[in-house]
Amino acid sequence: MSTGTGGDYWKDKGLPSIFKHELLKRYLPQFGGMTGSQSQDKRVVYLDGYAGEGRYENGDPASTEIALRVASHFRAQHGITVECFFTEAQQKSFDRLHQVVEQYRADGVLAHARRGEVDGVLDTVIQRAGGAPLFLFLDPCGLVLPQNRLVDVLARQRRQTKPPTELLMNFSMMAVWRLGGHVRSPHGTERALQRFDDMCGGTWWREYFAEAAAPKAKVGAADRS
Ligand SMILES: C[S@@+](CC[C@H](N)C(=O)[O-])C[C@H]1O[C@@H](n2cnc3c(N)ncnc32)[C@H](O)[C@@H]1O
Repeated sequence: MSTGTGGDYWKDKGLPSIFKHELLKRYLPQFGGMTGSQSQDKRVVYLDGYAGEGRYENGDPASTEIALRVASHFRAQHGITVECFFTEAQQKSFDRLHQVVEQYRADGVLAHARRGEVDGVLDTVIQRAGGAPLFLFLDPCGLVLPQNRLVDVLARQRRQTKPPTELLMNFSMMAVWRLGGHVRSPHGTERALQRFDDMCGGTWWREYFAEAAAPKAKVGAADRS
């Protein structure tokens, strides 16, 4: 399946990313400020589960560097630690991400870059956030984590209101249409359908896409979500 970040994705920011990053820039400092000063050890845990490269080739900050700047500011100005976790599945993107994270670590920001699937680090992050506010940023190009997994984290492991948990998730309609089209397409694969079932928490969506008029499934097609 396409990761959606091929081609020129990291050259400079596409329109959807401008919107996402504005949200993140405003939302994360608000959350950190409101919750960090009240938490036991003035600590907030942050996970960017689909981190990408961290910075665009033109030097503009991507989601990773936006969060690292917030963490650096909170450390210097408010004595609040924003402990950041970043996961990235693709080796090439991870190598760039790692360089960006190392720059901020050298300045004392508590940050960890992990190569691999977000699912593989989620439990570690939840554990680290025991007793601390938790901000999750999930920004996949395609399907996000299975619904059962998200429900388990949000409704079971973090069900208490304090310390608070915040989830900012990108649900790409382009990806949904692309993958949902597998229902009608002769090229659609059962594996893709099952992954979609997992994300939606059941097969209810199949009927919807079977009837809806939308672009046909294109295995490997990319979007700039
Ligand atoms: C939309 S891009 C991320 C953009 C980034 N959040 C930003 O705004 O700067 C999604 C990234 O997630 C990575 N990825 C895809 N599946 C993943 C997974 N299961 N776990 C971690 N990273 C994944 C892709 O390689 C890609 O770099």
